[in-house]
Amino acid sequence: MATIIAVANKKGGSGKTTTTTNLAGAFVARGYRTLMVDADGSQASAFSWRRTGESSGCSYEVLGLQSTNVRNFLTAALAVDPYDVVLIDCPPRDPGEKDGEVLRNAVLVSNAVLIPVMPSGHDLRALIGFLQWLLAIRENTKPDLDILAFINNRDARTNSAKGARSQLVLNLVGLPIRVLESEVVHREDIRRTGDAGLTVFELAPESKGAVEYTSLREEILKWLAATSERAAAVLTSAQTSASSANVQF
Ligand SMILES: Nc1ncnc2c1ncn2[C@@H]1O[C@H](COP(=O)(O)OP(=O)(O)O)[C@@H](O)[C@H]1O
Ligand SMILES: [Mg+2]
Repeated sequence: MATIIAVANKKGGSGKTTTTTNLAGAFVARGYRTLMVDADGSQASAFSWRRTGESSGCSYEVLGLQSTNVRNFLTAALAVDPYDVVLIDCPPRDPGEKDGEVLRNAVLVSNAVLIPVMPSGHDLRALIGFLQWLLAIRENTKPDLDILAFINNRDARTNSAKGARSQLVLNLVGLPIRVLESEVVHREDIRRTGDAGLTVFELAPESKGAVEYTSLREEILKWLAATSERAAAVLTSAQTSASSANVQF
């Protein structure tokens, strides 16, 4: 069964496409069969990144979402190719909006939502409304949905790593959202991946950017494993109480 991650943030320019493409590169580097799904109809999305990469020999698979029914689309795609990981490049919407259907459906089929957050006051304020909607989905429909946020595109000259992360943690205090330790700094090598249609693993495999995406991948895998262990434990205890119920009656 594929692990599905929706890369989402209401705000355009927060790094959804950059995260999707480079994290896909990190999963491929670990030997995972990885699919990117472009659920954003706009120009600067994973699909256009892929097309740019055709001339540079990038071979990563990106499928453009053909309908708003993400579940059917993925079921069909996974029946053809059994991918290990699917990353969905989501549109910059408020899912509560009328045209937020694709985002809503993407979240509903995903194991985790990964939110790249730029460390600015404006971005942090915009995040809260988005999170409230996600948390409502989690509470009402998908209690095992992992919501993971991480700092992306921090300007290392003006903003310290510790400061940016603690500011994000402070903004999310009391909410069941994990703020990852891994961060991706603003780097020229990463910015260039968009123009080149390549991932940082091809463009600059020894770079700090490649190390950051590797560490992001590992931390995501760690949390996903913890969540599925918890789900398995809940299932086992439900089965145990069902079988002791059988004995009793
Ligand atoms: N870590 C980073 N380092 C350098 N540039 C980045 C980084 N993250 C994003 N960018 C740049 O910021 C811009 C917006 O990123 P993008 O991934 O297109 O955002 P979104 O998909 O959320 O609209 C792009 O020009 C991209 O190259
Ligand atoms: Mg984008």
